[in-house]
Amino acid sequence: MSRAPRLAELKDDQLPRHLAIIMDGNGRWALHRGQRRTSGHQRGAEATEAIVEFVARELPIKYLTLFAFSAENWGRPPEEIDFLMQLLGDFLRRKLDRLLEQGVCLRLLGEIEQLPLSVQGELRRALELSQGQEGLQLNLALNYGGRQEILRAVRALLADQAQGHLERCELDEACFSRYLYTTGLPDPDLLIRTGGEQRLSNFLLWQIAYTELWITPTLWPDFTPEELLEALAAYRARERRYGTVKLARSR
Ligand code: IPE
Ligand code: IPE
Ligand code: MG
Repeated sequence: MSRAPRLAELKDDQLPRHLAIIMDGNGRWALHRGQRRTSGHQRGAEATEAIVEFVARELPIKYLTLFAFSAENWGRPPEEIDFLMQLLGDFLRRKLDRLLEQGVCLRLLGEIEQLPLSVQGELRRALELSQGQEGLQLNLALNYGGRQEILRAVRALLADQAQGHLERCELDEACFSRYLYTTGLPDPDLLIRTGGEQRLSNFLLWQIAYTELWITPTLWPDFTPEELLEALAAYRARERRYGTVKLARSR
């Protein structure tokens, strides 16, 4: 692995404005140690806390989006789901004061209604109390699916059209984007996936059209701020072309 760059080397406008992470590999982390999957989730939650703290405190990144629970993850055994929901509630309860102190603004990407009532309560409280804070915006993708998000947007758009509200808006990309959970957010510049799988797993399908991808075999509980710095250094070295050519090099 390459040397992790020092923070000072990275503090410039070549860092992503919006960083998204698929935090994968908790189950394998535990299985490799002969432990239950839940202990991997516990350690994964600790890694999440460390990364959020590091980004909020040290990096000039404005938006951090974490894939915490997918719409498809409901297909897991009930005990695992219960554990994950409990971890989430705990995270919100324990970390809210710290997040508020750091100026973090929380936002939910996903459907809140299907979450357990206790988690809904913690989440609504955190969303409300952190609203309008001007530090890092932490987007939690929870009960989130990219296809579901697109369908939900189409339904809302058709409903608006039926009521005659759509006339003000041409149906172009900007207009459609306003119907997504991510309304108002810039698209992610960098998407990190831990755990090594080379797939998107239904994450932010619309928004990552030109996002840079960085996949690491490191399992999420082992992912550290140092490795995040490596990913950021790799991002900085990328040339984003958006389908165009660099004029100086084209012939
Ligand atoms: C990611 O780790 C956490 C969630 C999906 C909630 P996994 O539980 O998917 O871990 P692996 O991929 O099975 O190792
Ligand atoms: C993606 O990981 C979802 C989260 C990290 C929350 P999964 O483990 O659910 O994805 P697959 O099943 O490997 O595609
Ligand atoms: Mg997984």
